[in-house]
Amino acid sequence: MIALRRVLRPVHRWVGLSVGFVIMWMALTGSMLVWRKQLETPLDRDLLSVPTCAARVSLDALTANAVKTYPKGKLDYIRLIAGEPGEARMPAAMIRFTDQMFVYLNPCTGEVLGQRGRYSGPFGMLEQLHRFRFVPNGNLVVGSSAIVFGLVLVIGGLVLWWPGTWRGARRALALRTPRARGAASHIALHKTVGPYAAAIVLLLVLTGLPQSFDWYRNAVYRLTGSPLPEHPQASHEVAPGTQRLPMQAIWQKVQALDAQTREVLLHFPLRAEDPVEIYAIDLDAPHPNARTLIALDAYTGDTLSFTPYAASSLGHRLYFWTLSIHTGYVGGWVGQALLLFGVLCVPVLGYTGIRSWLRRAQRDPSRLPRQVRIVRKSVEAANICTFELADPDGAALPSFSAGAHIDVQVRDGLVRQYSLCNDPRETHRYLIGVLRTNDSRGGSRAMHEEVDEGDLIRIGEPRNHFPLAHGAERSLLLAAGIGITPILCMAERLANTGADFRLHYWARSREHAAFLGRIERSAFADRAQFHFSQGVPERRTNLDDVLARPDAGTHLYVCGPTRFMDAALLAANRAGWKEQNLHREYFSADLLRSANDTDFVVKLASSGKSYSVGKNASVLEVLAANGIVLPRSCEQGVCGTCLTGVLAGEPDHRDRILTAEERARNDRFTPCCSRARSATLVLDL
Ligand code: FES
Repeated sequence: MIALRRVLRPVHRWVGLSVGFVIMWMALTGSMLVWRKQLETPLDRDLLSVPTCAARVSLDALTANAVKTYPKGKLDYIRLIAGEPGEARMPAAMIRFTDQMFVYLNPCTGEVLGQRGRYSGPFGMLEQLHRFRFVPNGNLVVGSSAIVFGLVLVIGGLVLWWPGTWRGARRALALRTPRARGAASHIALHKTVGPYAAAIVLLLVLTGLPQSFDWYRNAVYRLTGSPLPEHPQASHEVAPGTQRLPMQAIWQKVQALDAQTREVLLHFPLRAEDPVEIYAIDLDAPHPNARTLIALDAYTGDTLSFTPYAASSLGHRLYFWTLSIHTGYVGGWVGQALLLFGVLCVPVLGYTGIRSWLRRAQRDPSRLPRQVRIVRKSVEAANICTFELADPDGAALPSFSAGAHIDVQVRDGLVRQYSLCNDPRETHRYLIGVLRTNDSRGGSRAMHEEVDEGDLIRIGEPRNHFPLAHGAERSLLLAAGIGITPILCMAERLANTGADFRLHYWARSREHAAFLGRIERSAFADRAQFHFSQGVPERRTNLDDVLARPDAGTHLYVCGPTRFMDAALLAANRAGWKEQNLHREYFSADLLRSANDTDFVVKLASSGKSYSVGKNASVLEVLAANGIVLPRSCEQGVCGTCLTGVLAGEPDHRDRILTAEERARNDRFTPCCSRARSATLVLDL
């Protein structure tokens, strides 16, 4: 099932983003067409209705007036609809010509009320839009989209939605999904509305297809073992000069055969030998397309065939039921409201689906949004290279603040974070420094060996987990090794703003210290102090001395290898620095394990599904094993790539990026390394 969903999810997404727009168009136009039977006549009152009368003029008089109005037309049929008892107005008579021009007449006086084409008037235009009749082969567009929609989006969507058990399905259908908020609310809404909308929209697709494809309509007849509809033939030769019966006489014959008609449609024979075909809807018909079929000899009025709707074939009845269901003529107000709900859900599904996809795409580090060129690669110090990145077309890059880093896609599937170390006022380039380490997990080695000047690589937008504190009176910057990259940026920013600060930089030797010349030539050189151990630990300046004088107005920033970080923060604690004045950025960290670690449960807000996390597994691993792959990079709690919202429960934070204040909020955690203090964590996924 997981493998199937993995395949279905992108198919569902891309079909939704293409065919979904056609369906959304049909849904929006359909949502208005649902109300046609209530609104069309009031909106065109003088064309479509007349004052009720007792006596009507003959059909032949109506026909003659219609032909006079539209002489170039070829007669197709005449439609009469009975008025409702007690109503002051009744429907106008309508004569249609074969080119789909309609002439409306007053059946009481014979007066022509007006004429218009099939796709004129508010609802005619809506129907044209709904059926894509404004493009060649519009029915093909509509029908094909409906088939793809039904098969891929509806059926595939139900597979993606399936909660795994009948009990889960019943719970989801009973609208007892978790009350998600935040970004998870989009996918939760998508999945809650989806099954209901799917049922209604699938019904609309199945009942709409007969109007697009003859093969589908024929299949309805064949699958029910019914004969395909055929035009009746006259049973005798027509002698030259023989006159057809007037339409009024034909109408009287119909009334004699079937006295209870509410609506009748009499076709004018197109050829001399053709009979008159009549469709009649009885007063007690089960739906407005329940057609009784009649064929009369056009010359004698003899009945050639008479098939009351109730006696017609199953295929015939099924086909005309589909027409009535699709157009909202079944179930009264309730049926119309249900259809309206279904079609209005389509844009909701489109919106929530696109929002959740965009969110996933933004979170997915394999889809880093920006392409840049390596315009310069330089050796900065022993084992340290700098890379200068610029937009390939020379466009400005997004601004960043001191302490920010970017995700860099070193190669497919390998994303690493590097601090920006150029002046934050520059927008034409980013500068990163990369230390090649012996214990590299592949990122720094690939940057040194595989990435060269001129190469294009993808990067993310700048993010900052290590910003300068606003309003600090003084700043103390401690960097070790490659930790100088964000610290240097901070020093330049502080110098530019005239702030009070000092910089301490530890390195093994001058050869191992990056950006030495830049610091020595800078305006803040006199505030920078270098500490070179030359490989002799005893020569390291005592951190206790540097951190000896904490005060409330001074903020401390520390960046470097884990051992240095731990030592500096321990010394700061010993000296009495306040936690809110400490700022740190780790490049790597050991996973924090505890003998007291226990199992807990994570629950996804969008689906309500729960997963048990054993004491030796991470949340990230458990979710991935169940087909939910979250973005990740360091998997040590230092990069922030996997940060995930928490809606309920208390995380056990084990990352190195969240501040004490952010941890206390308990609204985000890093599933790569953090665990839970509560039995369950509800995640914003
Ligand atoms: S993957 Fe880096 S913090 Fe989780």
